[in-house]
Amino acid sequence: MSAATIAFQKPVLPETGIVVLLAGDGAALGPVAGELDTATGGTLARAIAAAAYKGKQFAMLDLIAPAGSGLDRVLVVGLGKPAEMKEYDWTRLGGAIAGKLGEIKAEAATLVVERPDGVAIEAAQAADIALGASLRHYRFDRYKTKKKDDEANGSKGLKLSLAVEGHAAAKKAWAGRQAVADGVTIARDLVIEPPNVLSPEEFARRAKELQKLGVEVEILTEKEMKKLGMGAFLGVGQGSSRPPRLVVMRWSGGKEKDQPIAFIGKGVVFDTGGISIKPAAGMEDMKGDMAGAACVTGLMHALAARKAKANVIGAIGLVENMPDGNAQRPGDIVTSMSGQTIEIINTDAEGRLVLADVVWYVQDRFKPRFMLDLATLTGAILVALGKTHAGLFSTSDELAAQVSAAGEATGERVWRMPLGPDYDKMIDSTFADMKNTGGRYGGSITAAQFIKRFTNDVPWVHLDIAGTGMEASASEINKAWSSGWGVRLLDRMVKDNYEG
Ligand code: BES
Ligand code: MN
Ligand code: ZN
Repeated sequence: MSAATIAFQKPVLPETGIVVLLAGDGAALGPVAGELDTATGGTLARAIAAAAYKGKQFAMLDLIAPAGSGLDRVLVVGLGKPAEMKEYDWTRLGGAIAGKLGEIKAEAATLVVERPDGVAIEAAQAADIALGASLRHYRFDRYKTKKKDDEANGSKGLKLSLAVEGHAAAKKAWAGRQAVADGVTIARDLVIEPPNVLSPEEFARRAKELQKLGVEVEILTEKEMKKLGMGAFLGVGQGSSRPPRLVVMRWSGGKEKDQPIAFIGKGVVFDTGGISIKPAAGMEDMKGDMAGAACVTGLMHALAARKAKANVIGAIGLVENMPDGNAQRPGDIVTSMSGQTIEIINTDAEGRLVLADVVWYVQDRFKPRFMLDLATLTGAILVALGKTHAGLFSTSDELAAQVSAAGEATGERVWRMPLGPDYDKMIDSTFADMKNTGGRYGGSITAAQFIKRFTNDVPWVHLDIAGTGMEASASEINKAWSSGWGVRLLDRMVKDNYEG
């Protein structure tokens, strides 16, 4: 909700305030930082030596500015070996710096972006630093009536000026990233938003706001979904007093004849488990069971805000999984839009039921080049991969490789899991075409096999983000409960497919 204000300027030392300098391994300084040392008679180098500061990656040395410099504070931040900085490290660097500036309650600072090894900083790297700083500055305080001064210093905001050679190019590169950062913020906000506020209808209303940016947004109601025969999706919502919605967002920034690509998100606004009810402990986390839908919504914002030259469909299935007198039962058999029947074994395996109909609908209506769905689908993926990688399942080696590479580049990492006929068999049912769970073993895989049955052989990727999309582990670029996971990854996928 709060954003850092980013500016770019010529690579010169500021005359007042806080300056952030970058140091390489061995605490080597670049030319601009060197000027400060010279101007202060070597005081900076003495302070660095006295602190035995070595410039290790993201190590910080926070100094009171030398007398006569006019500055208040000098923050030295380590790069380690600059040549070993990977793409995502520049974003992390920006995050680490913004974190420290928040800690010391800085309202403004000048960051001198230069490499001590004499190699020029690329515009993209400077812009990535800005992206990291902006993402780190996030906090969600909509429901705090008493605002405390915390790390992010969100009430006042942080003004960060990057002093860098080629600042005009860096500023241009930042413009696209700012659109993406805003998309991440939208996704994070949606995931944290409490479930009493964020009903399927309210979520749809927020998605509809993207129309202002030129995204076409259609909202399908229960009645329309019934007409389409979406019995799998609708069964999930029938125990809730709040009706489901299917939102289709369309960004057509590419050539008219270009086939679109499609992203699909699970949007269970709250997952009690239904009649197969979940244990009470930790159930509040299930407000985040719409992280896939949040990611797709944030992505559509990013694409529209940066006017991506691409044709992209975003479809999100919004529904609440509740137990009541009208709720779906274990033993029920539902008919999906594809015509395939499903025996419900466990009403808590609801995400795949939603996706079954949305995936089928998207391929049927839009004939996309490929489909990629994101879903907080299984606890089993947390057991397998923890919180650092999302589980990747795909029918295309090429797509799988593309997503993996995009994951490494953006830091939103994935790990490929297997699919195959032996796993597929595990969801065959005695009474219907399939059942919605495949037993304890390989739980994430059988869930993926289930969705695969609704792809109609359109190239497809499934990302199980139960471990990465919510209750996120803290990183340099995020300290919040939600990560906005996938917005940057998908934005990269769009670039690779259309703009590369
Ligand atoms: N939304 C959950 C999965 C989940 C678990 C997300 C933990 C985030 C954190 C999903 O709907 C679910 O309940 N899955 C069941 C499937 C089982 C009944 C086959 C699970 O993982 O236990
Ligand atoms: Mn569930
Ligand atoms: Zn769920």
